[in-house]
Amino acid sequence: MPITTYVFDAYGTLLDVNAAAKSAAAEPDHAALSEVWPALARDWRLKQLQYTWLRAVAGQHCDFWQVTQDGLDWAMEANGLDSSATRKRLLELYWELAAYPEVPAMLKSLKDAGKATAILSNGSPDMLLGAVTSAGIASDLDAVLSVEDVGVFKPADAVYDMVGTQFGCPKEEVLFVSSNGWDAAGAAGYGFQTVWVNRAGEPLDRLYAAPHHVLSDLTTIPEFT
Ligand code: LAC
Repeated sequence: MPITTYVFDAYGTLLDVNAAAKSAAAEPDHAALSEVWPALARDWRLKQLQYTWLRAVAGQHCDFWQVTQDGLDWAMEANGLDSSATRKRLLELYWELAAYPEVPAMLKSLKDAGKATAILSNGSPDMLLGAVTSAGIASDLDAVLSVEDVGVFKPADAVYDMVGTQFGCPKEEVLFVSSNGWDAAGAAGYGFQTVWVNRAGEPLDRLYAAPHHVLSDLTTIPEFT
């Protein structure tokens, strides 16, 4: 069955989640970050995601902005950072993360080919709006779908169900693309065609399903038809 609908994870897939820590570390007011920003960025992301999974399992949903702040607080403490100005700056930058360089041309190529495009993300609607606007990719996305509409984080089926609700297409016509191995696996288990964008060269997650394809960036996504 041909692919009609291309659905992307946001953070880490279209948007560079390490950009906030990297940019703040280059600013003179946040010099303490310069030594530790890679570890801070890794711990922040890991805790942010762990908190989504734990809250989903426990039935204790909150929005992604809350877990983003909670994850940052853990990561700052773990890396010996306690500046409230640095915390404020890192959170500010999270609203304007850069898209990876290949993203605008890739989305445009899908739209030129008449395909449907969307984001499906844990992000809250206002975070996603801020991010796609500042990254300049809003006009090449037909929908920006947030888990806030179903009140649970990925990889719950209720989240992946949002694609069929929005586009009315069968699962087999959806190519779901994520740089999070667990998200690509979750979407494969759900029944989508899947691509894992393994930018960091990580090992495959040992889960109940595996992504169908593995790429190192998004450039060739329009070739999946
Ligand atoms: C998202 C996170 C998982 O955008 O990256 O849903």
